[in-house]
Amino acid sequence: MKLFLVLALCVQALLVAQISAQAPASAPAPGPAGPTNITAILSKGGQFTMFIRLLGSTQETDQIDQQLNNSDSGLTVFAPPDNSFSSLKSGLLNSLSDQQKVELVQFHILPDYMTLTQFQTVSNPLRTQAGNSNGGEYPLNVTSSGNQVNVTTGVVNTTVSGTIYTDGKLAVYQVDQVLLPLAFFRSPAPAPAPVSGKPKKAGDTSDDTDDTDNTATDSSDGVTQLSKFGLNKVVFLVALIYCMAL
Ligand SMILES: *[C@@H]1O[C@H](CO)[C@@H](O)[C@H](O)[C@H]1NC(C)=O
Ligand SMILES: *[C@@H]1O[C@H](CO)[C@@H](O)[C@H](O)[C@H]1NC(C)=O
Ligand SMILES: *[C@@H]1O[C@H](CO)[C@@H](O)[C@H](O)[C@H]1NC(C)=O
Ligand SMILES: *[C@@H]1O[C@H](CO)[C@@H](O)[C@H](O)[C@H]1NC(C)=O
Ligand SMILES: *[C@@H]1O[C@H](CO)[C@@H](O)[C@H](O)[C@H]1NC(C)=O
Repeated sequence: MKLFLVLALCVQALLVAQISAQAPASAPAPGPAGPTNITAILSKGGQFTMFIRLLGSTQETDQIDQQLNNSDSGLTVFAPPDNSFSSLKSGLLNSLSDQQKVELVQFHILPDYMTLTQFQTVSNPLRTQAGNSNGGEYPLNVTSSGNQVNVTTGVVNTTVSGTIYTDGKLAVYQVDQVLLPLAFFRSPAPAPAPVSGKPKKAGDTSDDTDDTDNTATDSSDGVTQLSKFGLNKVVFLVALIYCMAL
């Protein structure tokens, strides 16, 4: 009678061990697969249709997707909402050449992933995708305290008014105004310049050494899953040996 009870328990233990060994995979689903889609990210809010259109017409959408796929430093995008485009001087956008439109969009993109906190320690002017910031053509400065980040281009002063998306590689922040680069208002440019008449000295600004350290954290789900599986096997083996020894 006692032996029978022990045997029954044994068989049950074996079954349980085997079943759990066979079904180790109730693992959490991995993160969103596939490449990041900047258009989809901006579409969600519904208020960036103009910027999305510009990104598309200048082929910057593809550029962004490619850079995110191919570089480790990530990207930061300043996205102006539709109402900021409507408050531009009328005709300004249409007066830009195709090349200037590309530059305008690129001026809204930093070639590094930046958290809001990192803006507190970067050195001005920031480097943008539009090119040389030290030459004085496309300077973009930020001043930041706490979570408030102000952005100035020499033509426009505005502020970061929201975080739309961050994933450690791509950051998208809303800015309240279209970031117009100084360059549009200096050379033979179409629009009247609202810049204060201060002549710009040849920049002897220090090199922008804005290192951002990206701490990529790999998930170790696979590892724990594996060890769970191994443990189940061990339990099964021990139970088997124990039962055979009876
Ligand atoms: C990105 O998202 C937009 C809008 O949701 C969609 O139209 C487009 O096909 C997507 N692009 C890719 C490459 O998945
Ligand atoms: C992403 O990068 C990988 C390797 O760097 C490359 O093989 C792949 O074609 C790229 N995909 C796209 C959509 O650019
Ligand atoms: C940002 O600008 C606002 C007004 O334009 C000003 O009150 C604030 O002090 C500025 N903040 C920083 C961190 O420069
Ligand atoms: C940006 O910052 C640099 C360095 O501090 C400064 O020389 C330049 O005048 C600033 N430009 C604007 C538009 O604030
Ligand atoms: C931007 O702010 C600076 C200093 O805070 C000021 O000197 C400049 O006139 C402002 N420019 C515009 C276009 O508002």
